[in-house]
Amino acid sequence: MQQKKTFYITTPIYYPSDKLHIGHSYCSVAADTMARFKKLQGYDVFFLTGTDEHGQKIERRAKAVGKTPKQFVDEIVAGVKSLWKLMDVHYDRFIRTTDEDHIAAVQKIFKQLYDQGDIYKSEYEGWYCTPCESFWTELQLKDGKCPDCGREVERTREESYFFRLSKYQDRLIAYINEHPDFVQPPSRAKEMMNNFLLPGLEDLCVSRTTMKWGIPVTFDPGHVVYVWVDALSNYITALGYLSEDPSLFNKYWPADVQLVGKEIVRFHTIIWPAMLMALDLPLPKQVFGHGWLVFGGDKMSKSKGNVVDPVILCEKYGVDAIRYFLMREMPFGSDGNFTHEALLMRMNSDLANDLGNLVSRTCAMIEKYFGGMIPEKGTPAALDIEMEEMAIATRKTMEEKMNELQFSLALTEIWKFISRCNKYIDETAPWTLAKKEEDRAQLGTVLYHLAESLRILSVLISPVMTRTPGKIQTALGIADHNDLISWDSTATFGLLPAGTQLEKIENLFPRVDIAAELAAVAPKTEEAPIEAPKEAKAEVKKEQPAQPEEKAMITIDQFAAVELKTALVESCEKLEGSDKLLKLSLSVGAEKRTVLSGIAKWYAPEELVGKTVVLVANLKPAKLRGVMSEGMILCAEDAEGRLAVVSPEKAILSGSQVR
Ligand code: MSP
Repeated sequence: MQQKKTFYITTPIYYPSDKLHIGHSYCSVAADTMARFKKLQGYDVFFLTGTDEHGQKIERRAKAVGKTPKQFVDEIVAGVKSLWKLMDVHYDRFIRTTDEDHIAAVQKIFKQLYDQGDIYKSEYEGWYCTPCESFWTELQLKDGKCPDCGREVERTREESYFFRLSKYQDRLIAYINEHPDFVQPPSRAKEMMNNFLLPGLEDLCVSRTTMKWGIPVTFDPGHVVYVWVDALSNYITALGYLSEDPSLFNKYWPADVQLVGKEIVRFHTIIWPAMLMALDLPLPKQVFGHGWLVFGGDKMSKSKGNVVDPVILCEKYGVDAIRYFLMREMPFGSDGNFTHEALLMRMNSDLANDLGNLVSRTCAMIEKYFGGMIPEKGTPAALDIEMEEMAIATRKTMEEKMNELQFSLALTEIWKFISRCNKYIDETAPWTLAKKEEDRAQLGTVLYHLAESLRILSVLISPVMTRTPGKIQTALGIADHNDLISWDSTATFGLLPAGTQLEKIENLFPRVDIAAELAAVAPKTEEAPIEAPKEAKAEVKKEQPAQPEEKAMITIDQFAAVELKTALVESCEKLEGSDKLLKLSLSVGAEKRTVLSGIAKWYAPEELVGKTVVLVANLKPAKLRGVMSEGMILCAEDAEGRLAVVSPEKAILSGSQVR
């Protein structure tokens, strides 16, 4: 029998010093989505996540509440696991760095690196806070004092073990240059190269004597392993590396994708590969540095008081809505702002209006006109064939985007097809066809095409949404038919057997009352600010004093002379030789355009990919730095110089007129 191809994916291991917030769940949902996608495609998948439980921060938190560090983390870890259960994050192993097998393997790794001369003993010099028993670097100090307690610090030396990171500098540079896929997105590879590798690496302190809550160094009691050798090793110890049973390690290592937040890319693309080189092990195929979910413009953190609780969101709005929002709203790799308003709008427009309506309209019409039985496919006309082709093309693009970890673009493609299906209903007007007996075959063909499109769509959304696909498949009467809900089955249009009996299901996504929901989460006093609803913003605007200077008015005809259209940003890059200009490749309906825009200061190119923007389509083309710019995209700029690209409030086809 042919061996299945393997796929190993990891998330970082989380510090269980507090409850996780929605920002943390971003990476786990992304990893779970990818794991589900690869499983769907028939891969033998291993998905690892877990917790990073050692270190001073946990030691101190535990002490403050009168618990041992282990008692302290046990409670939080239970919460982390139940969050993943709630969010349908199905890992294959949840590793804790306090697990015995991990501890034993880290001790062996440390000893091996020491024996071969990659770890050596020396002295670590830093600023020491005696009451906190902590070392701080110059940069960590706050006004020259301990950043934790604010007391005086002393320059002190501590005996420590060091890892010879500097020895691997040249090999790392060569590796990254020769393996362009290793660090993704490419901007992060550039950052690592220019900011850390080329300026030169220093050896890394890997043990501590002032801290007790860590893995003891077997050959030098008094030292515990410090941070990264402990934490990073989890990716291989979880598979049984250096244990009695390394079969999982032999099967799955090297990892296919390691997902990490952008602030820890450095540890994963410099220290981690250097450790692997020292252990003579292959490097992961890819480390992908994703952006942050920011809230009110800041990274979420308890100290800033802007954390959003994923448990509350999932319980209130459903797991699928939250998973969809996380994967759809921001391109993977860029930062994205979390607002309740954006979430609720997506729920109403993409889920209730687009997908929910498509399912309910299709099922209701099959019920009404065919007694709830899937009609015959019949003889498709040109329009029906166009739908068939689009279904298959959507599957293909979705696959490509998923393999590039571009979840939001994959979903954008799927939603384009959903919109097309809704438009197809309007174009074919089944209610009119139902009026004449001679149109009955055509009515059947239209409804068959809708049901079959839904079958394919239910599979395509299944890596992201864990519950809705099953409901759609139940509605179509095919939930138990594995051959109709497999990945392979989506490559062929027309598999749904005529005569299949539909089942009644509840409304998939009831519409939410956005104003009421926003009012319910409005900040009491110290809670994080939330975006005001659009209506409220309009109110504020009305009260602004009139502009002192009256501007010349234009007529409606003058305005109509400006042709505004929606355009989808298919790709975007910095224009070579310019600090200001971005070069955007747009699709405007069937047409392609290249547009230069002076917004490089405000947007990283990858942030714009997948966004729908507004294009001045009849602007005379102009050449800038040798490149022809075919139009202009609209942006808003406020008095403080902040700039935002104008984008339609909900999903709409590119090429639509803006009036
Ligand atoms: N313990 C280390 C990782 C060790 S991996 C060998 C750590 N833990 S953490 O709990 O602080 O962060 C875990 C992950 O959550 C990081 O990748 C971090 O980027 C991610 N996130 C934390 N807040 C986030 C957002 N607001 N948005 C997206 N991801 C965020 O670092």
